[in-house]
Amino acid sequence: MLDLDLALEKVKKWVKEAGDIQKEYFRKKSILINTKSTGIDLVTEVDELCEKHMLDSIKENYPLHGILSEESGKSDTNITSDYLWIVDPVDGTTNYAQGLPIFAISIALKYKDETILGVVYCPIVDQLFEAVKGKGAYLNGEKITIGNKRDLSECVLATGFPYDRAVHKDNNANYFAHLVPMVRGLRRMGSAAYDLANVAAGSLDGFWEINLSLWDIAAGELLIEEAGGKIVYLKEKRGISLVAGNEAICQKILDQIEYVDKIIYKTP
Ligand code: IPD
Ligand code: CA
Ligand code: CA
Repeated sequence: MLDLDLALEKVKKWVKEAGDIQKEYFRKKSILINTKSTGIDLVTEVDELCEKHMLDSIKENYPLHGILSEESGKSDTNITSDYLWIVDPVDGTTNYAQGLPIFAISIALKYKDETILGVVYCPIVDQLFEAVKGKGAYLNGEKITIGNKRDLSECVLATGFPYDRAVHKDNNANYFAHLVPMVRGLRRMGSAAYDLANVAAGSLDGFWEINLSLWDIAAGELLIEEAGGKIVYLKEKRGISLVAGNEAICQKILDQIEYVDKIIYKTP
């Protein structure tokens, strides 16, 4: 069995190194930007540089492990390891390309079906969120726990909108419009990994989003679980769609989503 404490130390070093790359190129006018699934889904040369750094580090240290990474997909199919690293080298690429400081590196390690390690690092604000299965969640070395609010009216929530929002009517605009008058604040920070990490830390009271990918949420999910929170998945046909928070707030967001679907849109 893998030495998880050692793996965590290595991962923390790698994400800080990737963070240095992100800081070096941040707000440089000359960085190359391309589009992917739609005209608003971006990839920059910094996503690729950081991915290379993360993947090279994993392969050098754990050559037999599998890797799933946003820009280069699944690693060599000959690898049959039970260990799988899941990497989003820049979560928040739109912010990065704009020169906005909220973006993060997200990395998780799964053993069989279970996530056993997760780290989210936001380099500009220098916040490192970490969790190892069964050992709690931490922000810059301090233990974090999920918030304890009970009423939506006291909550500051976060959400995001899928890249296919121009062509898909299930694009979260309806839930956003319905929930915004009910809460103290509603943020669209632009990095799902950072959103989830902040829910784990109690800095956000809840989060929901539609059509995310595994690399956006794998580390954040473990952070939330280890901080005592809850994640509920919905919409099987819409990528990874989820609600996160403490149990009470999670349920209250879910109730409102269900209300919009059933009462307003009359969907089954
Ligand atoms: C995106 C961010 C964003 C979320 C999108 C994600 P990317 O990841 O997490 O907050 O709304 O759905 O795809 O493309 O910046 O890695
Ligand atoms: Ca992402
Ligand atoms: Ca990304």
